[in-house]
Amino acid sequence: MESVITDTYAVHFNQRAYDAINDHLAHTAYSKVFVLVDENTKRDCLEDFTKATLNNTDFEVLEVESGEKNKTIATCIQLWEALSEKDADRKSLLINLGGGVVTDMGGFVASTFKRGIAFINVPTSLLAMVDASIGGKTGVDLGALKNQIGVINQPIMVLIVSDFLKSLGERQLQSGYAEMLKHGLITDAGYWNVLKSHFDTKNIDHLIYTSVTIKNKVVLQDPTEQHLRKILNFGHTLGHAVESYFLEHIAYETLLHGEAIAIGMILEGYLSKSLTGLSDAELTDIKDTFLKRYPKIDFKENDIDAILALLKFDKKNTHGNINFVLLKDIGTPVIDVKIPHELFADAFAYYAQV
Ligand code: GLY
Repeated sequence: MESVITDTYAVHFNQRAYDAINDHLAHTAYSKVFVLVDENTKRDCLEDFTKATLNNTDFEVLEVESGEKNKTIATCIQLWEALSEKDADRKSLLINLGGGVVTDMGGFVASTFKRGIAFINVPTSLLAMVDASIGGKTGVDLGALKNQIGVINQPIMVLIVSDFLKSLGERQLQSGYAEMLKHGLITDAGYWNVLKSHFDTKNIDHLIYTSVTIKNKVVLQDPTEQHLRKILNFGHTLGHAVESYFLEHIAYETLLHGEAIAIGMILEGYLSKSLTGLSDAELTDIKDTFLKRYPKIDFKENDIDAILALLKFDKKNTHGNINFVLLKDIGTPVIDVKIPHELFADAFAYYAQV
């Protein structure tokens, strides 16, 4: 499979990914190499990865606990201290081997340690392969508020080895799939149609490749999210608020990112029908597709109020306005739409309808 080339780095796939990093390590004099894992990727991926790539290289393993609740500045402090104690310097390399939490947080730690060291993302979850590891967004949560602290800084390369997906459970796979469905909704009705009817892990390489290509095209045109890149946030304004609400309420089981943005895409689909011309049939298609795959949540009135209160923290807000990405039709996004407040209740009522 061809590599996907960005303006500053490349995304390599499967055997070519291993060849690319081996070649890079053979030609680059890193003072030290660190591999960041969580307990899952340490158990399921580390040995395969290091046997294929770091046979002739000394490396140290840094470990964090898995899960969004650990994507915090406190974990970053532990990692900065570990790097410092293990004599990392500006010529050191950090390889982030894990899902979105590891690639987001590892990227941030690398980007800020001694004002920035090189990092390579090796995403092991579907979500990280098609979204988190690509495009240079790095960072951590602030309490339950998602990704409030961070920088945009690109990796040296991204290595996608789809064999790592074998260690993932179905729920995690579906979580990543929600981001791929989003890629169809915001850029390509044909891709949406393929994905909604034909997802199976047999053709996953091809689908990952398509999603990476879509994301890369968007990021190339607007790396710092001044305009076009905002379309990647379809479903995320309300989705992130839902995700944060579940993160901070210990009485609720945490929703995975894809599960939360699936809800966000139905709600924002409803807003699109009301404000930007999405048809009834397309909205029904979006709702049915997501509800077939993701849990339906019974939101009470006080949940909805608290979720809406979280919108003020959205990173796309400017001058006190909440800016939504909506759809004109499947495949055509519209950015910077303001929503009349009364429509939110209607959107949640539509979501709740059987
Ligand atoms: N995850 C959205 C973006 O990278 O812009």
